[in-house]
Amino acid sequence: MTPAFPTPAWLVGCGNMAGAMVEGWRRAGADFSGVTVIRPSGTPVDGIRTVTTLPNETPRFVMLGFKPQKLDEVAPSLAAKCGPDTVVVSLLAGVEVSSLRARIPLVRAIVRVLPNLPVAIGAGVLPVHGDGDAVHEVVELLRPLGLVIATEEEDGLAAIGAIAGAGPAYVARFADALAEAGTANGVEGDALGIALQTLVGTAALMQATGENGRQLSKRVASPGGTTEAGLAVLEEDGALSGLVARTIEAAIRRGRELAQAAAIDRPERLA
Ligand SMILES: NC(=O)c1ccc[n+]([C@@H]2O[C@H](COP(=O)([O-])OP(=O)(O)OC[C@H]3O[C@@H](n4cnc5c(N)ncnc54)[C@H](OP(=O)(O)O)[C@@H]3O)[C@@H](O)[C@H]2O)c1
Repeated sequence: MTPAFPTPAWLVGCGNMAGAMVEGWRRAGADFSGVTVIRPSGTPVDGIRTVTTLPNETPRFVMLGFKPQKLDEVAPSLAAKCGPDTVVVSLLAGVEVSSLRARIPLVRAIVRVLPNLPVAIGAGVLPVHGDGDAVHEVVELLRPLGLVIATEEEDGLAAIGAIAGAGPAYVARFADALAEAGTANGVEGDALGIALQTLVGTAALMQATGENGRQLSKRVASPGGTTEAGLAVLEEDGALSGLVARTIEAAIRRGRELAQAAAIDRPERLA
């Protein structure tokens, strides 16, 4: 189904992540005629009206695509423009609904989404959490961007986000490492291309068969063979699981720090 924005719709901030979502929506044939991008640089976004300050209208849909650190700078003027029909969709990692609600109080709903960059090609993961029936509407709008998962608990958002939001960075670095090891061991030419096709093929195969990694790796590794020798290193004393667990825990810890920094405990900070 073609994605339809409630209009007027504002995309406040359109960098890496909001820009990737725009690409995903564009691929899905979205109508951007009622959409405005607001960004300080005014850098044009292809096919969408782009301005540097908030327009003189009451938006029905506002997506927050700036960094969490900018929230206090942006929220007062934004809150003054929003109305009781406005649905606010926040991409801000670690900033809870209650913190957003305290700064943008009089809107119909606040919905958080923690997407990942593959939304640009409709292959993202998008955990969603927020209030009431607006969640359903936001889910419909996001559906062309990938796998949308509505979570009951706000903590569920951070847990999925820690794997899927940051995940492309970890998987991309694993691809680099695979390619570098290939080059170091005599692969000529496009080692990264080979590593990527290996990742894509493996993921697609696991999706098609429903196997988990242990099951699939058993099918690759024959007893006493080459893969088994490699796996013995990768899994020595839980090396891989331990490294990944520490990586995810560090991201979750940082998310909590950001949430705390944004939490409203000083009412004088409110506009
Ligand atoms: N990147 C990810 O993978 C990822 C994943 C999940 C969630 N997120 C969340 O997505 C949000 C954006 O991250 P990003 O990586 O896309 O950042 P980014 O590439 O740095 O983009 C930030 C955007 O915010 C705009 N901006 C800065 N100050 C502003 C202001 N005062 N008013 C309005 N817009 C302003 C910038 O405008 P200019 O373009 O004019 O400079 C830019 O378009 C963050 O809150 C992050 O937590 C990101």
